[in-house]
Amino acid sequence: MFAVTNSVGMFGMNAFLVTVEAELSRGSPQFDLSGLPDIGIKESRDRVRSATSSIGLKFPKGKVLINLAPANVKKSGSSFDLAIFISLMQAMDILPLKMPDSIFIGELGLHGTIRGVHGIMSMVMLARKNGFHEVYVPQENAKEASVIDNIRVYGVDTVDRLMAHLLNQSILKPEPHYIPDITPFLSNLMDFKDVRGQFKARSGIELAAAGGHNVLLIGSPGSGKSMLANRLGTILPQMTHEEILETSNVYSVAGLLPSEQPLIVQRPFRAPHHTISAAGLVGGGSIPVPGEISLAHNGVLFLDEMAEFNRATLEILRQPLENRKVSISRVSGTAEYPCNIMLVGAMNPCPCGFYGSTQKQCTCTQKQIKNYISRISGPMLERFDMHIDVDPIPYHEFASKQQPESSAVIRQRVELARKRQEQRYKGLGFYCNSMIPDNLLDEFCQMTPEAENLFGKMYTHYQMSARTGARIKKVARSAADLHGNALITNQDISIAVQFRGFDSKYLR
Ligand SMILES: Nc1ncnc2c1ncn2[C@@H]1O[C@H](COP(=O)(O)OP(=O)(O)OP(=O)(O)O)[C@@H](O)[C@H]1O
Ligand SMILES: [Mg+2]
Ligand SMILES: [Zn+2]
Repeated sequence: MFAVTNSVGMFGMNAFLVTVEAELSRGSPQFDLSGLPDIGIKESRDRVRSATSSIGLKFPKGKVLINLAPANVKKSGSSFDLAIFISLMQAMDILPLKMPDSIFIGELGLHGTIRGVHGIMSMVMLARKNGFHEVYVPQENAKEASVIDNIRVYGVDTVDRLMAHLLNQSILKPEPHYIPDITPFLSNLMDFKDVRGQFKARSGIELAAAGGHNVLLIGSPGSGKSMLANRLGTILPQMTHEEILETSNVYSVAGLLPSEQPLIVQRPFRAPHHTISAAGLVGGGSIPVPGEISLAHNGVLFLDEMAEFNRATLEILRQPLENRKVSISRVSGTAEYPCNIMLVGAMNPCPCGFYGSTQKQCTCTQKQIKNYISRISGPMLERFDMHIDVDPIPYHEFASKQQPESSAVIRQRVELARKRQEQRYKGLGFYCNSMIPDNLLDEFCQMTPEAENLFGKMYTHYQMSARTGARIKKVARSAADLHGNALITNQDISIAVQFRGFDSKYLR
């Protein structure tokens, strides 16, 4: 007897259809799996056997051949278990032979349980795209699967219940389509209203948020760098529907979506510790899984104590930051993960922490300062559009009774500035100032004649490179968008130049 069932496999973020063929024939007892299965799939033989006996059936006596097609695609993981089991049941004539509309996804556990798998969202999306009408998924993935509409999703916890359902008893109810609550959520724990004084640093963070600029915070210990950075997420614009799906997909593949609230509706804020490995940061593994940079997709990657990170580890970020995606090559193919992020770094300016401080004398030698800063390579520092000097607040600001502005108020201005950018860049494949390609800088960063004049003077005075000049233009464009200026003004240029203090402080 010959049977065919449909399933879905994953490689990186890419789901692909898999046909599971089962054939029973006479001969000595044998259970073979073909179609380039890896070790995980070989183990699924044992799980399928165990599931079969869990429902009181004897495993077929003769030859059992299972083939996963297409053969030329390397498959991994345990998500084909259920489809293998179903096709076996068909070949054994226990289930009807034809179920062309259905997809089966799931790992089998002992005693016929069905266990969750990673990447369900992409898998169900692919099933719908290919015209399938229903998909059977592990119960714990059911809510995540139901994020995709226009396809019937059944969550199943045991093969026993699934069999009963398929044998026309229809005991399972389709999962209702899940529509998330995406009302903006502002944590009471983190808010800019807790940050006293720091007017320049606050306006710098707002400017970075407005244009999506990578930003480096430099200052003495305890000056509030971590405090400021940790609040960046509270002023970024609400995620779009598209962004929610994209980011949730990354978490789905990583197996990190909470099963009860299976969508990421707030921009991620990832702050890995400085001891993190390269693979942990950008992704890796024999079956590549996404790293922190991809888990931060459409949100923020915060590298606190940046000088403490392994230099080589940081270097690996350079390419993904530029391309806004990570490629991980393996013998079996190249997995690609998105990483459209805002990078925020925080560090002390020197070993003692007080170089450039207005509060305390730095005790380091020039050489020590240079060595310290060179823990981060020049090209890596180039990835930051803005540098913000963070000085400890003076007592009168610390003791002030004046209530600082809240995140909600700042966020409104950021959202408005982002709307202006979205309109301007509509249909061009990018949506904020930090993403303006070099060849479009002149077109989109037009200045008033006075601003042009000032920019020229500053360029010469600070001996800027063309690259620095380009960054200043983009940041000035963001300042103009915050202030509602159609053309970049004098003031916008001065603001942008202010946030390049690093260049003159260290690089000359
Ligand atoms: N502007 C401020 N308003 C209110 N509290 C502040 C401010 N700046 C710093 N603090 C207080 O000081 C603490 C230390 O700040 P934070 O950890 O952000 O400093 P840091 O610059 O990251 O220091 P380090 O270099 O040691 O990491 C904060 O938790 C907060 O309680
Ligand atoms: Mg800190
Ligand atoms: Zn010092």
